[in-house]
Amino acid sequence: MIFPVILSGGSGSRLWPVSREHYPKQFLNLNKKDVSLLQEAANRLQNVEGAGTPIIVCNEEHRFLVAEQMHQLDIEGPQIILEPCGRNTAPALALAALAAQKKDADAELLVMPADHVIKDEKTFAEAVKQGRELVQLDKLVTFGITPSEAHTGYGYIQRGEAVSNGFNVKAFVEKPDRERAESYLRSGDYHWNSGIFLFKASVYLEALSQYATDIMDVCQRAFDARSEDLDFLRIDASIFAQCRGESIDYAVMEHTQQAAVVSMDPGWSDIGAWDAVHALTSAEDADNGNATHGDVMLHDTQNSLIHSESRLVAAVGVNNLIIVETDDAVLVADRLNAQNTKQIVTALKSAG
Ligand code: GDD
Ligand code: MG
Repeated sequence: MIFPVILSGGSGSRLWPVSREHYPKQFLNLNKKDVSLLQEAANRLQNVEGAGTPIIVCNEEHRFLVAEQMHQLDIEGPQIILEPCGRNTAPALALAALAAQKKDADAELLVMPADHVIKDEKTFAEAVKQGRELVQLDKLVTFGITPSEAHTGYGYIQRGEAVSNGFNVKAFVEKPDRERAESYLRSGDYHWNSGIFLFKASVYLEALSQYATDIMDVCQRAFDARSEDLDFLRIDASIFAQCRGESIDYAVMEHTQQAAVVSMDPGWSDIGAWDAVHALTSAEDADNGNATHGDVMLHDTQNSLIHSESRLVAAVGVNNLIIVETDDAVLVADRLNAQNTKQIVTALKSAG
């Protein structure tokens, strides 16, 4: 059976000031639908054959937000794994794999980040179906997107020889520098890693023990000392705090020989920063390329995102701007620099 795992532990700092530590982006409706990004991820599973109730891995602090949002979708008994602190995705997935294995020794995990938008859910479900055949060969299956630019925030997957209905992975490079990203784009035999994975829980845990033994050991001990109440599975805080923080991409995918890739193009986007929100919603005003939210007035303005929450925001004669207004903070950024919003959050944190 497929145990979907929704990773919901990120803080979304590049979407400040709307996304906050106490209420990060995955709980927000950024796609002009009437559900949050997390709820979109959960709804996406309806088309996936063989998918059971999701496991959601999140920070302890967000437990009621997650429980409430699942309740709104009438999802009964989701398992919500609570991390006392964030240690990135390799440990988060170790905890999910251990929990799934308890229920089913042959559990397959479908890993989905909570901050993605996928337009064509049928194509996605079809790709998962293809991936399941590779899972039977004990592969760690990635889903590859055709790259459209030399983005340095993604993992790059080099296709090797064909196997079953996908390809073996010849190389996996997480977040290369610009020069390497450009050469991968030119070569034509690389995909972007979508961040969605499919594998047997047992295969992932074995790979983690091999390539990041310390992470596996701490996660096993923290899981063994867990406590459970209702849908919540609470990980032991003092043990988990000792864990090294690392993503699955660096900890496992860059090292394993067992990776495979299924290519898919379902209209995927990672809602990483404001430029992605702009790209997602600007088509509504195709003539000027603007995306707006709330009480906004524009004159002679192009390719900009203007998001207002509490006041009228007006823009005149500007191009490529991001303006985000909230009750207590306003962001103005060059659209092409939107990724750097994170620096403001870091500076605010260190200023206390
Ligand atoms: N539970 C939990 N705990 N979830 C986490 C944690 C954690 O400590 N850290 C991150 N996550 C969640 C995020 O909320 C997000 O849904 C997902 O895991 C991926 O984390 P990101 O921090 O957004 O990763 P990324 O975007 O930099 O890179 C990954 O995704 C790219 C595609 O979107 C990598 O897999 C790249 O290779 C990939 O291209
Ligand atoms: Mg991401």
